[in-house]
Formats: sequence, structure tokens, C-alpha cells
Amino acid sequence: MNRPLPLFAGIGLRAPHVGQVLAERPPVPWFEVHSENYFADGGPALAALERIRADYPLSLHGVGLSLGSTDPLDLGHLAKLKRLAERIEPSCISEHLCWSSVNGRHYNDLLPLPFTRDALDHVCTRVGQVQDFLSREILVENVSTYFAFPESTLAEGVFVAAVAARTGCRLLVDVNNIYVNARNHGIDAEAYLAAIPKAAVAEIHLAGFAASGGCLIDTHGTPIAPEVWSLYTRALARFGPVATLIEWDTDIPEFAVLQREAATAQSCLEACLAVVA
Ligand SMILES: [Fe+2]
Repeated sequence: MNRPLPLFAGIGLRAPHVGQVLAERPPVPWFEVHSENYFADGGPALAALERIRADYPLSLHGVGLSLGSTDPLDLGHLAKLKRLAERIEPSCISEHLCWSSVNGRHYNDLLPLPFTRDALDHVCTRVGQVQDFLSREILVENVSTYFAFPESTLAEGVFVAAVAARTGCRLLVDVNNIYVNARNHGIDAEAYLAAIPKAAVAEIHLAGFAASGGCLIDTHGTPIAPEVWSLYTRALARFGPVATLIEWDTDIPEFAVLQREAATAQSCLEACLAVVA
């Protein structure tokens, strides 16, 4: 049975911590894993995930579907995702609102879409195809970007909201990505949040960035910045309590560091719950 994500702060589970989680069963409300790491049909990684799944709600977060590409959807990739979902019964399945392949060539980046009506039509069709294939709704996540298309005619927040409105998918709002894009492109983070309909938001991501010259890079390798915590509290004020995930993917610290970040997010969630109660 697919359980909904609890309205608590979970942690992105990465390989260096799997053994510790299996041995110690720490009090973490839920975990999220990268789907593609478990596409093998068997093996120790999948066996470990099945054991963790027995005790924790899980979310499957994809990084390789290339949802916005003009290449045909990779049905082999989708079949593996569907098989994993049948096995794990995740609380939710998410992907990024981006592209990462063209003409069959794959890149290790989550590349931005132009925010145009044509791109919106295109990506909505693809989200619909994915949801039909999986026979369930998915969550789509806004990404950090380092250039913007001059052809864009829609604000990013309006584009993201329209994808949810037109496809029935829900949104994984990455607050760090909004902050990074606000700084990199001079957009208004408050207006971005205001464009997102509360009912569409199913999950929030928090992570750390690094500054490089005049640009912020979404490294997932540092503590969450004070400005992002501040934007997170404003996001909760707008959306109400939302299941929130701590992501850390480079220079991965001890598990206790992630637990401390999750505890800070949890205190923000509890403050939000106290206001809405
Ligand atoms: Fe994220």
C-alpha cells in the first residue's frame, strides 16, 4: 500500500549511511532515495532498501528520466521505475522539471527548460505519459539553473504551477533551488512562492549551495544557508506543513549532521503546525 509521506522532516538516504541505518534504525520519519540506484533486478543494494522499506516510509526520487527532453521518453527507464515502485510501494515518485539528454546523448546535469507555451505543452504531455505509464500521479521538482533562455515568456513559478494544473501532478518545491535561481537570475522568490498553489505542494526539498564568482551552485554539499531557512519558513507560512527532505549528495557528512539539519526543519514544521492548529 502506498502510504502518504508524513508531515515531518525526512532525510535523503545515500550509500555511506545505509549500513548505519540498517544497524541502528534511527528515529527518522521517512527517507528518500534516488530511484536509478535501485534499478538492478536484485542485488545487495535493493535487498537493503527492501529492509529499510519495512520500517520507514520511502520516496523514490528520479534524476535520469529527462522529462523535458525532445527525445522520446525512455520506456526502458520507465519500466524499471515501475518495477521498482511495485516492489517498494513508495509514498511518492518524483522527477525533475528539466532535461538531461538530447539525440540519445546523456549529460550529468539537470538542464533548464525555456519557460514558453510550447515547452509547457511539451513537458505536460510527457508528464501525462509518465503518469499513465506508472498508473499514478508523480511529483515534479523545480531545478537550480545557471542560465535563462531569453525566449522565456512565463515566470518560472507560473510555469511550474501550470504543469501541476494541467497534468494533475503534484509539486516537489525545492526551496534551495528557488533561492539559488532568485540570486542567479534576479527573480523574486516571494512572487515565485505566491505563484505556486498550496494544494499542489506535496513535498519540500532543502539543501546547501556554494558560491562561485557571482553565481550560486546547487552543490548539495554544505549546510542549509540561513537565507534558505528563512525562505523555508515563508514557504511553510504560505503552504502550511509539508513533508520536508534534507538533501546532501557531495562531501557527505556523518549521519548525525543530517539528523541535526532535519531537526531544524522539524522545529520549523512544528512552529507551522502550531499556527495552523
Ligand atoms: Fe531537490
